[in-house]
Amino acid sequence: MRLAGKVCFVTGAGSGMGRAAALAFSREGAAVGAMDLKAEAVAETVAQVKKAGGKAVALSGDVSKEADVRRAIEDAVKAYGALHVLYNNAGIFPGDDHSVIDTDEAVWDKVFAVNVKGVAFSCKHGIPHLIRSGGGSVINIASFVALVGCSVPQDAYTASKGAVIALTKSLAVQFGPKGVRANAICPGPIETPLLTQWLLKEPKEKAKRLNRIPMGRFGKPEDIVNLGLYLACDESSWTNGAALVADGGITANYF
Ligand SMILES: NC(=O)c1ccc[n+]([C@@H]2O[C@H](COP(=O)([O-])OP(=O)(O)OC[C@H]3O[C@@H](n4cnc5c(N)ncnc54)[C@H](O)[C@@H]3O)[C@@H](O)[C@H]2O)c1
Repeated sequence: MRLAGKVCFVTGAGSGMGRAAALAFSREGAAVGAMDLKAEAVAETVAQVKKAGGKAVALSGDVSKEADVRRAIEDAVKAYGALHVLYNNAGIFPGDDHSVIDTDEAVWDKVFAVNVKGVAFSCKHGIPHLIRSGGGSVINIASFVALVGCSVPQDAYTASKGAVIALTKSLAVQFGPKGVRANAICPGPIETPLLTQWLLKEPKEKAKRLNRIPMGRFGKPEDIVNLGLYLACDESSWTNGAALVADGGITANYF
């Protein structure tokens, strides 16, 4: 098993790619501290992990609140005695986030609080444990939209994911010498509730986006989680400071 003996902290573990990561990490032998804003959703993730024979503890809280993140990480360490992986996946993509010229200040605050401060708080309280455990891996979920412009903008979201990539590189340089690697994953559009309940509901909008994907399909949570597994385990011991893209070729596509 690729993660035997490891303890992984996964945020946004109640849905989509966070739930898939919790299940995949536990299948590979990790104990998982699964955190989400929605207590019932994360309890369901933990139930699924346990049903499959894995180990996980449900931690509810809001990643944009430092005290919640600190408590969740302490509870995960109390439950399993150590911490080796931070999978900073919780993120929001609100429908009222548009172009910079028509997006309200409150939207910027909300998006940055969750998508940027949430990652920073997890790193602040998690990295010292990773160092104490003899090293580890920080995996921050960014997005392909931080790498290319989009004519249908979500500017607060895009800027927040750019900040995640920049923060990741700073962490890689600071903590690499202490045995902690930090990498970002930039997913293309993935069929999770975040996308299917909104953008992909509209057949015209769905077709427009599908047209741009050389692989001819949207991503599945496993497409991203497999990259997460690689980054979480020792196979990636020399991968540090990277922003790895998994997007079916979108960012390589001119026409
Ligand atoms: N789905 C996509 O197409 C796509 C593409 C690129 C990047 N991403 C990124 O991947 C990550 C996961 O996305 P997903 O599609 O699985 O989303 P999702 O909406 O299915 O799941 C996100 C989870 O995060 C939780 N969450 C939201 N705010 C939180 C908070 N403040 N504190 C704690 N938990 C909170 C939600 O309750 C939910 O369970 C996000 O960071 C997203 O920006 C998604």
